[in-house]
Amino acid sequence: MDLKIESRDNITTAVYGSREMRASAPTECIPQHKTAPEIAYQMVKDETYAQTQPRLNLATFVTTYMDEYATRLMNEAINVNYIDETEYPRIAVMSGRCINILANLWHSPEKADWKAGALGIGSSEACMLGGVAAWLRWRHRRKAAGKPFDKPNLVMSSAYQVVWEKFCQLWQIELRTVPLSLDHPTLDPKQALAMCDENTICIVPIAGVTWTGLNDDVEALDHELDAFNAKTGYDIPIHVDAASGGFILPFLNPDVKWDFRLKWVYSISTSGHKYGLVYPGLGWVVWKDKKYLPEEMAFSVNYLGANITQVGLNFSRPAAQVLGQYYNFIRLGFEGYKEIQQNSMDIAQYCHDQIDHMPCFQNYARKLANPLFIWYMKPDYNKTARWTLYDLQARLQQSGWMVPAYTLPKSMDDIIVMRIVIRQGMSRDMADMLIGDIRNAVAEFEKLQYPTPSRIAYEKQEKQLGRVFTH
Ligand SMILES: Cc1ncc(COP(=O)(O)O)c(C=O)c1O
Repeated sequence: MDLKIESRDNITTAVYGSREMRASAPTECIPQHKTAPEIAYQMVKDETYAQTQPRLNLATFVTTYMDEYATRLMNEAINVNYIDETEYPRIAVMSGRCINILANLWHSPEKADWKAGALGIGSSEACMLGGVAAWLRWRHRRKAAGKPFDKPNLVMSSAYQVVWEKFCQLWQIELRTVPLSLDHPTLDPKQALAMCDENTICIVPIAGVTWTGLNDDVEALDHELDAFNAKTGYDIPIHVDAASGGFILPFLNPDVKWDFRLKWVYSISTSGHKYGLVYPGLGWVVWKDKKYLPEEMAFSVNYLGANITQVGLNFSRPAAQVLGQYYNFIRLGFEGYKEIQQNSMDIAQYCHDQIDHMPCFQNYARKLANPLFIWYMKPDYNKTARWTLYDLQARLQQSGWMVPAYTLPKSMDDIIVMRIVIRQGMSRDMADMLIGDIRNAVAEFEKLQYPTPSRIAYEKQEKQLGRVFTH
């Protein structure tokens, strides 16, 4: 170490005058020596500097804006572990109230004071809990009937979120997927039922499909399933993955039946940290009735000072998100949620219209179901373009926006789409900036003399599949 330079460091040394600021950051071994907190803070902070600003990240569904009181409440509870229910009993009470509020928003018929539900670290955990409950109920029925229970399966559309693949792999359940097409952009109930048999633990329609922003028609599915269950004698239930839709439909489309009003919907999961408007780390699952929550899923622990029953995959988890959710319910009420979701919807609609007016693009759906949508290049335009939506993604990133381009799931994976998710924190003015950036980027791309590298790669791949380009 250079002692002459080292001797410059003392209590008055400015953060950026310090030795640490000209040394490389630890990447493999813990440093031997201490670092002043303000320097350590700055080093960690600077590590994140080049990242997208969260509110410009239109790829995520997850909350990137909460008001100051919510932020204060959550910061003040940063040292509280949710699982310590004996020490922090009011957190558990507030969590129970949130479950009640959601259950009632989703028309739960359950009369008990505390509805059957659980919180998760996100929708993934909530989906898994809903899936495990369906699997265990199916096993009980099969065992009771003296039938084999070693080949469970689950049916949903091919536009599933990856959590369902994980769930099926971890619990060794066969995932049967109904392919989508431009003509059938959401789960086709008849095709779903054609895949069901006595080993189907549940069907999972999605409210707010991650890939497209659309909603599967749960009411139509329930209707068909009712007849199917009656005919076959099966008892196949529905778990609705309402990661996004669970906090949109009750406020913006209260008449659409997708929830516990439907006979076969036994459980619903959602993300508190998506349109529930809470910072990341919160999901919810609610069962229609306690009888649909198998006993084995509730674990009692008595080493925390009391005998407490918990449902969840994780043990320790932050409590702050529960405070954020309960605060939102009080602060916003039904009206406030409705206003925020409607604003997001209106801004999404505005962007949808603007994209629709651009000669090069085609929106995937004519109508918005949620405040997010996807679009692709018009097929004729695509034949002669010298760029791809991946180029547009990279160009928008230069102005700070994260707008992802990706290919649709299997059976439609020849279509490259782009998606924006509008959430609280995105104003009309910001939408105008985004649309302006998209227009400018397209104008630049149209002046290109030669195809971009991403275009060359795309055409090579497409030509192998026999598709032709005309420039
Ligand atoms: C339909 C759907 N299900 C589940 C998930 C997983 O949610 P989380 O990120 O909250 O775990 C997502 C996330 O985008 C989703 O869109």
